[in-house]
Amino acid sequence: MQRILIDTDPGVDDAIAILLALLSPELHIEAITTVCGNVPVTQGTENLLRILAVLDLEEFPCIAQGEARPLVKNLVTAAHVHGEDGLGNISQLRNTDGSPLYPLANTSISSTSGVDLILETVTRYPDELTLVALGPLTNIATAIRKDASKMQRLQTIILMGGAFEEYGNVTTTAEFNIFVDPHAAQEVFQSNVPIDIAPLDATHQVVLTGERLHAETDKRPNRISQFLKDATQSCMEFYRRYVGFWGFHIHDALPIGMLTHPDYFQSVAADVQVETEGTLTNGMTVADLRPERRHPNPNAQVCIKVAAEAFLDHFFKRIARR
Ligand code: BDR
Ligand code: CA
Repeated sequence: MQRILIDTDPGVDDAIAILLALLSPELHIEAITTVCGNVPVTQGTENLLRILAVLDLEEFPCIAQGEARPLVKNLVTAAHVHGEDGLGNISQLRNTDGSPLYPLANTSISSTSGVDLILETVTRYPDELTLVALGPLTNIATAIRKDASKMQRLQTIILMGGAFEEYGNVTTTAEFNIFVDPHAAQEVFQSNVPIDIAPLDATHQVVLTGERLHAETDKRPNRISQFLKDATQSCMEFYRRYVGFWGFHIHDALPIGMLTHPDYFQSVAADVQVETEGTLTNGMTVADLRPERRHPNPNAQVCIKVAAEAFLDHFFKRIARR
């Protein structure tokens, strides 16, 4: 069993990743920390409680709210993709008696900050903990600033972010998580902690169509199926209008799959740097992936190939466990 801490900016694909992690017996979620990104951090923390209530959990992971602002830049959010509340506006949905269709989980938020909860959890499980980063890297860079040697006791950081031989999804060159806080990302890449990356090059290979999602969830009409359909509705509409197909990419679910089914994913070692200054290239992840140009001291493993069908089949099998 792998101990993990999830750091997340709960939007729609973060929700899918968290549910997949909770349904993965190979993983034990020690803690979840929220960070600003898809939505402001207070909304993200509320979303996390809504996501955790979808499953009937007997025990909840420890939860703490993290940083509200990127290190240097002003916050950019993604309500246009994930809905005003970050979860396809499911917070507005009501039962016939007026009660919320998706209530908040009955668990408390730690009074510790997200950054301190990260440091405390590494202290509790030195050399054993994997940090799964699904949003901008602000909390993680702040934890490194506070205690770099403690953060070196992480087993690894596995993160969704960046774009290498693929166009960005915010600008031509930048992926959202890195674009929101490029300074934090650059500090994390310089930290000497082993890093695995699921960039857009990998996540764009996994295309979840609306047809497949509805076919699979209609087979088992239960709470998680309903949540998946309700929460993904607005982002699938965004994809239909602006990306060209009805469906979406479940970006943040990939790091969870990389932990439980590494054989579905192929990576190359690279030296990854982040552009923090460029006006056209702000937030770009820069690395030379050509085999003949491999760096002598790579700082990351970059996933470049995914067995997409196998991963999607696995995803639906796991979801079907409930
Ligand atoms: C990343 O950006 C966010 O909008 C998603 O949740 C994901 O983490 C994809 O670029
Ligand atoms: Ca995310």
